[in-house]
Amino acid sequence: MARYSADSREQVRDAIDMLDLVSARTELRRVGANSHQGLCPFHEERTPSFNVDPLKKVYHCFGCGAGGDAFRFVMETEGVDFPGALELLADRYGVTLEREQEDPAAAARRQRRERLLEVLARTAQYYARCLWEADEARHARTHLSERGLGEEVVRAFGVGYAPSAWDHMLVRWRRAGYSDQDLRDAGVAQRSARDGSLYDRFRGRLMFPLSDARGRVLGFGARRLSDSHPAKYINSPESELYQKRRRLFGADRARVEAARAGEVIVVEGYTDVLALHQAGLTATVGLMGTALAEEQMSELARLAPRVALALDADASGQEAMVRAARVAAARSLELRVVELPAGSDPADLVAAEGADAMRTRVQESVPFARFRAQRVLAGAELSSADGRDRALSELREVLAELAPSALREELVRMVAGRLGLSETLVASLGATPSSAGGVTTARSREPLDRREETERAFLALCIAVPEEGRRALASVDLERHFTGAMVRRAAAHLRTNLVDPLAGLGPEDGELSALLAELSLRATRLPADAGTLKVQALQLEAARLDREIAAARAGARLDVSQLATERVEVRAALDNAMEEAMEEG
Ligand code: CTP
Ligand code: MN
Repeated sequence: MARYSADSREQVRDAIDMLDLVSARTELRRVGANSHQGLCPFHEERTPSFNVDPLKKVYHCFGCGAGGDAFRFVMETEGVDFPGALELLADRYGVTLEREQEDPAAAARRQRRERLLEVLARTAQYYARCLWEADEARHARTHLSERGLGEEVVRAFGVGYAPSAWDHMLVRWRRAGYSDQDLRDAGVAQRSARDGSLYDRFRGRLMFPLSDARGRVLGFGARRLSDSHPAKYINSPESELYQKRRRLFGADRARVEAARAGEVIVVEGYTDVLALHQAGLTATVGLMGTALAEEQMSELARLAPRVALALDADASGQEAMVRAARVAAARSLELRVVELPAGSDPADLVAAEGADAMRTRVQESVPFARFRAQRVLAGAELSSADGRDRALSELREVLAELAPSALREELVRMVAGRLGLSETLVASLGATPSSAGGVTTARSREPLDRREETERAFLALCIAVPEEGRRALASVDLERHFTGAMVRRAAAHLRTNLVDPLAGLGPEDGELSALLAELSLRATRLPADAGTLKVQALQLEAARLDREIAAARAGARLDVSQLATERVEVRAALDNAMEEAMEEG
């Protein structure tokens, strides 16, 4: 279907009640005329740094940097794409959406996509029916029940069975009117290397459909049912639709519970996901292999602020966890580890020990840093100075990620004790002077450089005092006063949209929307008046002159003295403006 019109999008934007929308996720308190505050739903925190402007309908967290308009909020919290968010909001606030005329190439691409999704959905349905009805699927049903997986959970995940004939699906879908190209692009049929003929990709296997956030099937993982097949799993070929590294198995079914609990549980395999859901741990998703990809980490961050890894404790699982920890730290996700006996996966454990035991293990998850420190110490060769140094250098990385906290102290004591070193030495390892805050407080974003800070403060003030702001914006030179492309875009945009900064922005403007949201919410926190704006405008001018003088010097140009004179004037004006502003304030 064609893209929704910009007109309907703006109607939805008008109809949204921002406080109503956000309050469903976090409790808000009024802190200013146009500003409400609460705990950030996107990262764990104890003091509120999440702000909402109900009039401009934007949000921004000064702690983790999340921010944007109502559409972005729904995309992030519900895990849907832009059209999905639009539909959801239109529905909720009673707006009828209209579609736009599409350009023919885009229409063709979209229709292609729809057709492939249709093939995949019908294939998944057919496989599921085969699992329950086909005689030849008896051993598949036995396999599942022997592993303790009941009919309810197997049906809920749409698990199926692919018939063993070479061309069962091929014949069936050709008869239903799909072309050979459709079937190849959907990844259900493939060409033989020998004679070029087409045949079914999946045969005689247990089929796990992988769905997107809206539950649409994108592809399959197919498990063998007899050890005589060399490949344990065959997957759908990577394509525009099916990209394993971007997906989490079961995310569509785990979303609600993960959001409620604030925690998502991560396992490796398909059966692990099914077993944990059946055990009542419905916030569980699967990586579909051990290499936790960066894109999957983004998906996890969207589901919950805390991630509990229940991966096999073998070497590759360890590797995956260490990688995950690095990405998690950068995204202020809290990472925990569910300790499992080496060599056993969660599905086997549930079968062997029962659901209660598994739930207890998950409840007793430990902070990643403690888990890792213990592993390093356990594997260290403590009898030689060399071995102790090696362990120490690995532990440096662990400690560097930790803000001063009870947990850090505990680990320092543990490491010092085991390695026979002083606590002072160990405590100094990877100490980060900037890290502050409580045990699980997320680390804040990189501080902006001074330049960007000056430019953003100026734009925020223009929003705060729009009348003077409009004049100030008109008189700046976008190229010379602003150094970054995005801030420059924001300045240009604000020249014509100062009162309602996000109006008119579409899905392709995500980064701009986030920046404008931040500026709008800064504006509500500033002591804003014409005098302060004047000061800030002069700061901007001074920064420009500093840059141009430096450039002129570097190029040995002659206009340096002219610029220097200007700078003296600007500095004097700045002093005056500051004094005036102080007197007023
Ligand atoms: N996997 C895959 N392709 C492979 C091997 C593994 O996609 N060739 C993914 C699957 O998602 C699988 C997960 O990695 O579920 C974990 O692999 P493994 O532990 O070998 O499979 P299990 O599903 O746990 O198998 P089993 O039924 O034996 O428990
Ligand atoms: Mn397994």
